[in-house]
Amino acid sequence: MEDFLTIEDIDVTGKTVLLRGDFNVPLDKQSGQITDQRRLEAALPTIEYLLLKNAKVIACSHMGRPKGEKVPALSLKIVADKFSQLVDNPVKFVDDCIGEKVDKAKSELNPGEMLILENLRFYPQEKANDVNFSQQLARGIDIYVNDAFGTAHRAHASTVGVANIFKEKGLSLAGFLMIKEIKYLSAAIKHYTRPVIAILGGSKIKGKIELIENFSSFVDSLLIGGGMVYTFLKAQGYNIGKSILDEDSIPVARNILSHIGREAKVNFIIPADSITAEQIKEHADCQVYQNDEIPDQAIGVDIGPLTVKIFKQAIENAKTIIWNGPMGIFEIDCFAEGTRQVAQAVARATDQGALSVLGGGDTAAAVAKFDMEDNFSHISTGGGASLEYMSGRSLPALQALNSR
Ligand code: 3PG
Repeated sequence: MEDFLTIEDIDVTGKTVLLRGDFNVPLDKQSGQITDQRRLEAALPTIEYLLLKNAKVIACSHMGRPKGEKVPALSLKIVADKFSQLVDNPVKFVDDCIGEKVDKAKSELNPGEMLILENLRFYPQEKANDVNFSQQLARGIDIYVNDAFGTAHRAHASTVGVANIFKEKGLSLAGFLMIKEIKYLSAAIKHYTRPVIAILGGSKIKGKIELIENFSSFVDSLLIGGGMVYTFLKAQGYNIGKSILDEDSIPVARNILSHIGREAKVNFIIPADSITAEQIKEHADCQVYQNDEIPDQAIGVDIGPLTVKIFKQAIENAKTIIWNGPMGIFEIDCFAEGTRQVAQAVARATDQGALSVLGGGDTAAAVAKFDMEDNFSHISTGGGASLEYMSGRSLPALQALNSR
């Protein structure tokens, strides 16, 4: 595992710390309220440690993709309010992230207090990794701490630019969440115990090609579920009815099938059957079809019972399990069974000593829906970041941290 300098390696007592978190939480479109606060809860160990050490915590993050403009609906004020409840202490907020007003708010902060800055992406300079913007973020700061694993694949001013300024001084540190994420993800893809299985779901193959390639270099079995199944079935010449198709990826799917099936020594398992419906709605009328039976009007919505049985057998024997992406449209109860059964099988294997690492927002949302969040070794807070890390890429924000 990468051996980063952490907040426990440097005395942070009384210091002014710039904490880059990933507070990019989903908001309800109508009410604007936070619908899932897990990313904020995951940031608490670092925040609480720093506050206990009487550090002055200046926390910053992005929220959504405001494209360099001030979008009031994407203000971090709501996150500051939520943190006030979570840390049981008033958390201050300033409606900008650079400039005089911010410098004043930073200098007025007392030891053991936290200040949240406004959305970094209200400035285009954040994504452009602008030097001047990084310098302004660094103003009045003693130590930089990055705990934003979910944004570690972005080379932005707050994740790389400002980190590099502090790296020169040996003060670019990793927070507890960052360390935890790297510990579990690297255990799953680098320091695993065999048999290793990867379960991949989601609707698109695009964006997961590198992941599939990397997995096929070390996993024993690769189980495919979710909407991307139908692109693989189409590539094999099956009729897929009205199921989701990633048309552009058919040649890639064909390549993967012939390469993994023949050259790589991976047991590549595509579903043998599907649950289908003619409409995507609650209480839909569902049918089970084998791959060669899918009729024209059918939409594949979940893996079928035979596939569940095959997947469970593979999961049962595994010692390392990586799971990214649901098996079907789990948001709708009657299409959630395959994902639920996979979750239960992974949970059982974990109980018996396997390492299980879940990644991607949809997988996390699925196990939250089943009330099973505590049944796995680790659920990553990263979506794109965990995909890139598991694809074997180096993440720019990690490179900008000091090593021990
Ligand atoms: C995420 O939600 O995956 C992270 O917060 C990164 O967001 P981004 O994809 O907008 O950079």
